[in-house]
Amino acid sequence: MNVLLLIFWPALIVGEPAPIPLVEINSSARFVFDRDIFPIVESKCLTCHDKAGGLAEGDLDLTTWASITQGGKHGPAVQAGQGEASLAFLRSSRRLKPIMPPDGEGEPLSSEELTKFKIWIDQGALPGADLQPALSRKREIVWEALPTTLQPVLAVAFSPDGTKLAIARGNRVIVESLSDGSRIATFSAEQDLVSSLAWSPDGQQLAWGGHGHVRLGQIPSDGLPAEPITFEPVTERAVALAFSPDGSRLAVGAGVPSGRGEISIWSRADHTEILRLNEAHSDLVTGLAYSPDGQMLASCGADKFVKLFRASDGFLVRSLEGHTAGVLGIGWSGDSKQIASASADGTLKLWHADSGEQAFSQNDHRLEVTSTHFRPGRREIVTTSGDRLVRLWNAEDSKPIRVYQGSQDFLLSSDFSSDGTRLAAGSQNGEVYLWNVDEGTLLRTFAPPAPPTASTEK
Ligand code: HEC
Repeated sequence: MNVLLLIFWPALIVGEPAPIPLVEINSSARFVFDRDIFPIVESKCLTCHDKAGGLAEGDLDLTTWASITQGGKHGPAVQAGQGEASLAFLRSSRRLKPIMPPDGEGEPLSSEELTKFKIWIDQGALPGADLQPALSRKREIVWEALPTTLQPVLAVAFSPDGTKLAIARGNRVIVESLSDGSRIATFSAEQDLVSSLAWSPDGQQLAWGGHGHVRLGQIPSDGLPAEPITFEPVTERAVALAFSPDGSRLAVGAGVPSGRGEISIWSRADHTEILRLNEAHSDLVTGLAYSPDGQMLASCGADKFVKLFRASDGFLVRSLEGHTAGVLGIGWSGDSKQIASASADGTLKLWHADSGEQAFSQNDHRLEVTSTHFRPGRREIVTTSGDRLVRLWNAEDSKPIRVYQGSQDFLLSSDFSSDGTRLAAGSQNGEVYLWNVDEGTLLRTFAPPAPPTASTEK
């Protein structure tokens, strides 16, 4: 306790409310809005965010699961699967201004309430369990199942030859053909949210991560895809995945929100674990990327750090410190010398891998920066943001080059085709956009299936 006071003392002196620290909650329970979260919001937020009660500040109504996910002026208040990037978390944890409740206008969330809130979002922001009649629920949902309206695109990935695009949308993995516009495969994760995707460098296999498992699907160029292989490298949600450049290893990142972040490295050939880094981060591992030369494995976490491990034996070479909120994505430059990092603190940072120095910090984004990649073959970096824009930056001077518009919602994920000519980005509402990088033109939008109408639902 004394240590905590010391850490936050400087912040108290200058009158800046300090971020509310998280605590470790040892529970494997699934939190749901009605039972676990509504009571918190009711006691701390509804005086200003209750539409029926007459006041919805920021156009945000926090009384139901539907209204909290719909959000307010700045879009959805929670991003399923991404607690650290969610506006309601960032503001109520005092990591983003204006803080909630506004300073002096209400009691802040306790560390325990805040941690519950974040875990609930990390687990997929599930609506409800035991349908309390007092809460005006719009429709009945069996609590184990994902609601049909929950279709965030947490990952998109071009096949190495650029002919296919894999999309992780809600509980499905969809593989679209970019040459003839057909759908090559759909895999269902049933009640689970698909959190990550990675193509093997030979383009033969696609890996995706869910809760406690990773699946490897064969994607042949003709014929039907075979049943995927399942393995269980982690006990928590596999949020990050990366193949080594030679294709022999698959790194899996997971963790316990506000507890620990682990990395498990598997042999692709015989599905056995080669290396395990149990305490790689002190919070969820949100991203993994091998350097193109195969020497390093970079990871990023909700603990605000980027870390560099020697790929061969997992030795921690360097920790990159500077972000003030969780890091949500990382990408290597083609020469393996620099790393770009995207953070919920609203910045894109570029780092020198050999010294750990920051080359620049770009803070023109209006909301969280959710993913980043170097453009293959160029000194250019892309970012996606909660502010619905995709931006291309010059990696030399951090100046903007181009903005890609068309997204209707909070953006969560992105990828370049390996020739660097096309760019895909996935959004919270399930849409995926495909742009021509040099011309900035929107080539295609992949829309999610419409949710079933009320009459077909129970
Ligand atoms: C005393 C009033 C008050 C309380 C209590 C309060 N808020 Fe707010 N909230 C506001 C105001 C005012 C705004 C608009 C701020 C602005 O846009 O500058 C706002 C805006 C927001 C927004 C941004 C909405 C948008 O899309 O622009 C979020 C998210 C939010 N509040 C979450 C919360 C949460 C979570 C709680 C409870 C922990 C909470 N608020 C408690 C007054 C309040």
